Amino acid sequence: MIAIGCDHGGYELKKEILKYLDEKGIEYKDFGCDSLESVDYPVYAKKVALAVASKECEKGILICGTGIGISIAANKVKGIRAALCTDSYMARLTREHNDANIVAMGGRVIGAGVAVDIVDAFLNTEFSGEKRHIDRINMIED
Ligand code: RB5
Repeated sequence: MIAIGCDHGGYELKKEILKYLDEKGIEYKDFGCDSLESVDYPVYAKKVALAVASKECEKGILICGTGIGISIAANKVKGIRAALCTDSYMARLTREHNDANIVAMGGRVIGAGVAVDIVDAFLNTEFSGEKRHIDRINMIED
């Protein structure tokens, strides 16, 4: 189960990503928002981050205007490693090296094609499990 959330700046892009998830038959829980009306991105970051940290959802997707605010907010929740990605290379590497559990994107920064590529790479890349990467993640936790 994938948790997904956005603010008004990410709402249009979220709709495109939901289309992709539906097409692929990937189950998700949509934590809002549900319109272009102005809302506060920390609210949605927290909902998705808590769902992932509690293991209710396996991974999360967050979108705001730039992806910056919503990733900063999500990273305040213990156990969350939210990675702001602008291409699929970053999405693949953040899974392999950082074991990121949330991907963040900017709805005003990238188009739907790139965003779908990012989500695809993020959901389909495993953590490498290499000791050096485990050690570094543990250093972040400490
Ligand atoms: C909202 O206007 C905008 O500030 C928000 O979507 C995001 O870009 C913040 O980082």
